[in-house]
Amino acid sequence: MPTNQTREPIVAANWKMNTTPTEGTTLAREILAQHLPSTVQVVLCPPATSLTTVAQVVQGTAISIGAQHVYWETSGAFTGEISVSMLAGIASYVIVGHSERRRLFGETDRDVQLKTQAIHLAGLTPIVAVGESLEERDSGHTHTVIRRQVSSVFQALTPNEAGSSVIAYEPVWAIGTGRNASPDQAQDAIGWIRETVAIAHGSDVADRVRIQYGGSVTSENCVDLLRRDGIDGALVGGASLDATHFATIVLAAA
Ligand code: 13P
Repeated sequence: MPTNQTREPIVAANWKMNTTPTEGTTLAREILAQHLPSTVQVVLCPPATSLTTVAQVVQGTAISIGAQHVYWETSGAFTGEISVSMLAGIASYVIVGHSERRRLFGETDRDVQLKTQAIHLAGLTPIVAVGESLEERDSGHTHTVIRRQVSSVFQALTPNEAGSSVIAYEPVWAIGTGRNASPDQAQDAIGWIRETVAIAHGSDVADRVRIQYGGSVTSENCVDLLRRDGIDGALVGGASLDATHFATIVLAAA
């Protein structure tokens, strides 16, 4: 049965709506200069306008590129949207279902499911973000919410697609707040997520899925979170905009 030791850790930098192409190039070069451990998959997710320039910086290295957003249709009259085929050859990963997109842009579980399927069809890897709000946690609904978010996507995937997916557990109350989930809270939610995948596809598939923690991960709290069994890496926002802080987090996942 795969454990933390057999699932390759994955640490992704979600730069969100930060960095111009020039700034992104500089930041990617600074991150490359950090001599990151080869045992951790590192993914940089710049904004769409910097995808190609940052991809050029990391070309030929072990660092992968991820997009922050995609639409499930292949082409057509969808002003402002990007299709999976437009990402092919540039990005290998796509973040989908981020709470900022659910909350601020009305993305539904159904949207997340359609996007995740399109991402897999294109041969890319989704990073499916799930997580409860503070009200949901305080009212005891964390497990219910996460189960709904995960199963609505994973029931629609083939076992192979499910097993090769990445999931990010990102409690909404921990994102950008400086208040990270405790290692116990993160481990509990991630265990629940893995069990949810197992209900849909069996424990062999669930054991292959890499599940990250995200939400106020810093160079200070990363060791306590990432040494926990079952936590396979991190999805990092703010701290990923600083190359040395980000490198510390990658090292902690090794
Ligand atoms: P912060 O690390 O800034 O809290 O953001 C987390 C996040 O949303 C990553 O996708």
